[in-house]
Amino acid sequence: MIVISAAGGKLGTALADELVNRGKATGVRLATRAPEKLAHRAEQGFEVVRADYGDPASLSAAYAGADIVLVISGEGPNEVRIAQHRNAFEAAKAAGARRIVYTSAANPTSASRFGWAKAHEASEATLKSLGVPYTILRDNSYYSNISALLAQAKASGTLPFPGIAAKVAYVDHADVAGALAGVLLDQGHANETYEISGAGAYSITDLAALLSEVAGREVTAVEVPLSAFEENFRAMGWPDFVVEGVAGFFAAMGAGEYASTSHDVERLAGSPSTSARDYLTRL
Ligand SMILES: NC(=O)c1ccc[n+]([C@@H]2O[C@H](COP(=O)([O-])OP(=O)(O)OC[C@H]3O[C@@H](n4cnc5c(N)ncnc54)[C@H](OP(=O)(O)O)[C@@H]3O)[C@@H](O)[C@H]2O)c1
Repeated sequence: MIVISAAGGKLGTALADELVNRGKATGVRLATRAPEKLAHRAEQGFEVVRADYGDPASLSAAYAGADIVLVISGEGPNEVRIAQHRNAFEAAKAAGARRIVYTSAANPTSASRFGWAKAHEASEATLKSLGVPYTILRDNSYYSNISALLAQAKASGTLPFPGIAAKVAYVDHADVAGALAGVLLDQGHANETYEISGAGAYSITDLAALLSEVAGREVTAVEVPLSAFEENFRAMGWPDFVVEGVAGFFAAMGAGEYASTSHDVERLAGSPSTSARDYLTRL
């Protein structure tokens, strides 16, 4: 039995779709806070159960009989996420899981401009200390983080960003899902850490040039201070910890913290990661 936690999010959805495409839904349990939203997955062959990282009893029930547990990282301030991920890892160990898989983030160090990297650093350390074989996937920035900016740029001809020259090795949710499917379904992967980054890295200036070609109109990258993004996020009514987290993430991207490329997606998923041209064409 494979259990996928946080199955109702975008990554969980992409992974469930990938498993359906591979004909591998049977023997997979989807754990989510809102099982009613995943009722259609039962018709595809999955089991669907309720689980909340903040509710250890729900995790024990959801992970019962699991051989492999995938813990997709959750949401919230660092201290909440660190405690919730620990709950999940400990429940998976108590359930007798042979391997625990965790989706971390690229560059998970306290020195990162991305403040939430600390939650990944701490969670990786907790997982490694448990004595259960683990597999860690360090996801680079998802294209979806900038999809709204790209869509606006297509309409306005301007692509504003803090740090337009810095490269980022973006990945699509489908790339991560393909890599996760490989890690969950194939033998091996014990005590491995993979860099789930694109095979190519692109600056905002590169993306503006590509978007100009794909959209058939001139799009120009424009350097803007990070504070302008923060003001925008606050104006949208986001809570302080989200503004700080997302602003820090944009700062880390703009500073080149996510520039390292990798071929781990292709190795694990069996197909290349999504190029910026392909992503922009789809967008
Ligand atoms: N590398 C990147 O660029 C990047 C960007 C954004 C996020 N992330 C990380 O990657 C994770 C997955 O990304 P995503 O795009 O799928 O995010 P998402 O669509 O926001 O999904 C996050 C999911 O986390 C689960 N979750 C949150 N709190 C939970 C709790 N208390 N107990 C159980 N599950 C909880 C929920 O699953 P259910 O709905 O099933 O309950 C939620 O749908 C994120 O949560 C975040 O940690 C990485």
